[in-house]
Amino acid sequence: MNVVVLISGGGTNLQALIDGQLDGSLNIDIKSVISNKADAFGLERASRANIQTDVLDHKAFDSRESFDQSLIKIIDQYQPELVVLAGFMRILTPEFTRHYLGRMINIHPSLLPKYQGLHTHKRAIEAGDKEHGCSVHFVTEELDGGPTALQAVVPIQEGDTPEMLAQRVLTQEHIIFPRTVQLFSEGRLRMENNDCLLDGEVL
Ligand code: GRF
Repeated sequence: MNVVVLISGGGTNLQALIDGQLDGSLNIDIKSVISNKADAFGLERASRANIQTDVLDHKAFDSRESFDQSLIKIIDQYQPELVVLAGFMRILTPEFTRHYLGRMINIHPSLLPKYQGLHTHKRAIEAGDKEHGCSVHFVTEELDGGPTALQAVVPIQEGDTPEMLAQRVLTQEHIIFPRTVQLFSEGRLRMENNDCLLDGEVL
């Protein structure tokens, strides 16, 4: 399955996908890793694995719409069956999300629908939650609001700092993200009517 991965940063989730592609556990061909930041370390990870990279600097555009339209042009050159947002820190326009509806997923560090947006670890600790975690979801117009595929729960421990918790959540992200991609590639996971279906069952 042809995949394009979008990143903005360090790319540890991207690395989990690259590792899966290399060891054969993931039936994917990452056609390109695209970053909106030229210095994203994830680009280095892609190059090391001989994966094509593209940089599209959002600062060179005067509107969100024009950036997203250029991004669509780059992505569609690769004809991906799935677009994977792996720490892509941009709010997407409705035109963009509609264009990839049902074929774009995102990893988010919270148990959605809790804590959409940023600073999720800090917010979970400050709320006194016992549990936190991560979610993979299909991307819709609503920020971090599309139907959820897989989630992993991470207990919050006494004395946890946001950084400590983030690290444990990240470890789980690296498990559920490739697993979701694999399920999609096997045709077992899909989005329908704003629901996520696994083997035909609504999750
Ligand atoms: C992860 O926490 C992910 O959930 C969020 O951005 C972070 C990306 O980390 N969307 P990395 O670049 O994959 O290491």
